[in-house]
Amino acid sequence: MMELTELETQFADALKSIARREDFKAYIGQNPLIYRILRRAAAQYVTGDRRIHGLEAADRLQAKGYAVSLEYIGENTANEEECKAAVSELLALIGDLRERGTPARVSFDLSHIGLSLDTELAAAHLLTLAETALQAGIELFISMEESAKTDKILSVYEGAAARYPNIGITLQAYLHRTAEDLSTKLPASARVRIVKGAYQEADGVSIPRSEALDDRYLELVELAVRQGNRVSVATHDERLIEKIIDQGWYGKPEVEFEMLYGIRPDLSGKLKAAGHPVRIYLTYGHEWYLYLCHRVAEYPPNIYRAIAAMINEESIGPAYS
Ligand code: FDA
Repeated sequence: MMELTELETQFADALKSIARREDFKAYIGQNPLIYRILRRAAAQYVTGDRRIHGLEAADRLQAKGYAVSLEYIGENTANEEECKAAVSELLALIGDLRERGTPARVSFDLSHIGLSLDTELAAAHLLTLAETALQAGIELFISMEESAKTDKILSVYEGAAARYPNIGITLQAYLHRTAEDLSTKLPASARVRIVKGAYQEADGVSIPRSEALDDRYLELVELAVRQGNRVSVATHDERLIEKIIDQGWYGKPEVEFEMLYGIRPDLSGKLKAAGHPVRIYLTYGHEWYLYLCHRVAEYPPNIYRAIAAMINEESIGPAYS
């Protein structure tokens, strides 16, 4: 009989390939029952369809002592109009955060605001967002995408970060180039989020999940702290987190943990209870379907949690202490 883990892996691979199929997505959108059922599974990872859902979840988590990041998971932007719509949404989000006095960090992909169409367009949009966010006392954070885009993302980031101190950047530990990027591309005391990396990359540019990757991750955290960066340690890997705490990097005011909403809320709670600063990365928006597929595909045992959520009559989000 096939091992369960092998079955899970095959399921994850299948999920990755159907996740981007527009016909599948359209079918779900047209079928209210399937939409409702999958939406319940997505509630484990996405706060809701609308901005207010993200804002309310942010308030709830802040009341419990977490810092928060917010991401709008919108349409994949295929033209300039869609990029402008994404920028409008982000401006509205920054405005609402200002009005509510919520000191959240706003995260996004540069591709979402124009990078896939035109680097200059993305750069101009980033400056608009940075200016508004600066006035509002809000920090922006750029996510990192496929390695084919890393140079462009870093060059847009460098241009904007030279003018605006409120922009942070995400770097991926699995890329061979990252130590050099970390030491050469960031202004002094810049905020950097270190992640393992989520894309399927060639061996020549990256290393897979392994002890070697964990060692490299630790080295990057050390390098960032030593060169005076403010570091978001963005991982759910409990062993790695323990090592970082043991090394004493953690507990410094410039180092925080950051985890995706709905993933290991037990671990977030444990770290917070031990006095460590923890940030939760919240998402909202209509594109929850792709996001759900990614969260299950990156950790196939999540399928059981998704099934349990789907058969529950109510839509229940993750429980944070
Ligand atoms: P890893 O994948 O090695 O898993 C280690 C352990 O963590 C697992 O054994 C499991 O216990 C737990 N775990 C991991 N994922 C889980 C899940 N979905 N459900 C339940 N448990 C899980 N990537 C990128 O390429 N660009 C980006 O901009 C970002 N941005 C980003 C922001 C934030 C705040 C986070 C936390 C992550 C990202 N990522 C990202 C994703 C990141 O690269 C990585 O793919 C995921 O965090 C999963 O990797 P881990 O470091 O958690 O460890």
